[in-house]
Amino acid sequence: MEPILQTQNLTKSFGHLMAVNRVSLDFKEGELTSIIGPNGAGKTTLFNLISGKTKASAGKIRFKGDDITKLAPYEIVRKGIGRIFQITNLFPELTVYENVRVPVLARKRETSRLLSLDRSLRDVNEETSRILGLIGLSEKSDITCNALSHGDQRLVETGVALALEPVLLLLDEPTGGMGPEETDEMVKFVRGLNENRNITIILVEHDMRVVFSISDRIIVMHSGGVIADGKPDEIQADERVKEAYLGR
Ligand SMILES: Nc1ncnc2c1ncn2[C@@H]1O[C@H](COP(=O)(O)OP(=O)(O)O)[C@@H](O)[C@H]1O
Ligand SMILES: [Mg+2]
Repeated sequence: MEPILQTQNLTKSFGHLMAVNRVSLDFKEGELTSIIGPNGAGKTTLFNLISGKTKASAGKIRFKGDDITKLAPYEIVRKGIGRIFQITNLFPELTVYENVRVPVLARKRETSRLLSLDRSLRDVNEETSRILGLIGLSEKSDITCNALSHGDQRLVETGVALALEPVLLLLDEPTGGMGPEETDEMVKFVRGLNENRNITIILVEHDMRVVFSISDRIIVMHSGGVIADGKPDEIQADERVKEAYLGR
């Protein structure tokens, strides 16, 4: 089967620094892959490249066979690649409901031009409520986002990404700043998206307990390159990974 996402010699340099250095990876549809590696390894830059936020210095990115290397972020989102950022990215003064409703509205405007205004607004509201149910925040729909816990904010962001109906979701440290309970909730949620909704997931995560429990595959980055790529037990046994990253 053709990979859903493919990078070919993907490279991003900042001056002399090779933040991402000739990375060639294939991602299979339906898989949950984690990318790990020390700070500065190039993980976020790789996500920025895939989502179009940063333009590649060299190399190619293909999504479902199409070359998306030069597309703008909104075009990439439209193709079905969603992302949540390492840094929280919500409208803090708006409620949970409003934050999720914005992208639902944007999405529906594209697909339901032929419906009456009445009907399409009803659609938008139903879809917004459905997503709030999915992220488990129906009860908190009227709370402004700046009053939410960090974990709940990450869930709202995931809701925003889901509103755009991604088939591939890039999650950059979704459990960052969370306590153990919130982390477990997030892990359950991410696994559900993958297993029940068949969303292909690429996860950047620093919590090794999460990474090793959730992943079908783990990719290890170091200094812009990939130093290991395999199933969790293979990565755990990899001497280079232990040396470069896992410690001892
Ligand atoms: N916009 C930028 N300008 C200059 N250097 C950058 C920029 N973004 C990232 N870098 C550098 O690229 C390297 C990889 O960064 P990053 O992708 O954020 O790593 P990670 O997410 O793995 O911690 C780091 O050395 C970082 O300082
Ligand atoms: Mg990062």
